Amino acid sequence: MNVLDFQACKARQEKIVMLTCYDYTSARIVQDSDVDVILVGDSAAMVMHGYGTTIPADIEMMCRHIESVSRGTENKFIVGDMPFLSFRQSRTDNMRAVASVMKAGAHAVNAGTIAHIVKSGVPVMGHLGLTPQSVNQLGGYRVQGRGTGAAGVLRKEALACEQAGCFAVVLECVPDELAAEITESLSIPTIGIGAGAHTDGQVLVMQDLLGLSSDFKPRFVRKYLDGKQLWRDAFNAYASDVKSGQFPAADESYGQ
Ligand code: KIV
Repeated sequence: MNVLDFQACKARQEKIVMLTCYDYTSARIVQDSDVDVILVGDSAAMVMHGYGTTIPADIEMMCRHIESVSRGTENKFIVGDMPFLSFRQSRTDNMRAVASVMKAGAHAVNAGTIAHIVKSGVPVMGHLGLTPQSVNQLGGYRVQGRGTGAAGVLRKEALACEQAGCFAVVLECVPDELAAEITESLSIPTIGIGAGAHTDGQVLVMQDLLGLSSDFKPRFVRKYLDGKQLWRDAFNAYASDVKSGQFPAADESYGQ
């Protein structure tokens, strides 16, 4: 997968599969899967570091995760999230932040200020709708683009992303008819999360898909594994074996 394949997938009406990933071990497994694109999202702040929002993510945090994922993959396209306010500084500082993310191993960035970054030769994936970094401004995690006015704004923003040179755009938590309409109207692919079935691709947070996240399950998440239960069962089996003396066995120990 490279940046040109996004357009090719849209032309062939072939869905793009994106998944978040933050660490080397998981990246090795994604490498062996049919997932096309890895998003090293700033959701790392929440699912890897336990913060309540994505706002505490910074460039150092993002770069460490991108480097780990990059070491675990060979040919997966990696999109690195630009964390909160990192692309709202002076142009020099914005570009320094973009450079750090690209040098860490990303092939593209997911960012808000687009044109200058694109002109600098860095592929940009736009992000519209519920952008978690703006949660304070949006008044919480709620569906965006409902109602004529808000839908119009989102349509315009999507077109602006395309015109500024984005190679794709994430649509997060928007009504499915609006996502379908935007998808139809753009020449670049849309990747949806909570945006219905008619976008050009889908993205999910890995921990949500694996059933490892908290008990709060947004409507758009599909759990493909009861990971929490499976992990707990494994931990309990280990604890029980240690306590009963069944672990380690002779063939798990070294002789003289
Ligand atoms: O940070 C992230 O993981 C994201 C996805 C949910 C799209 O932005």
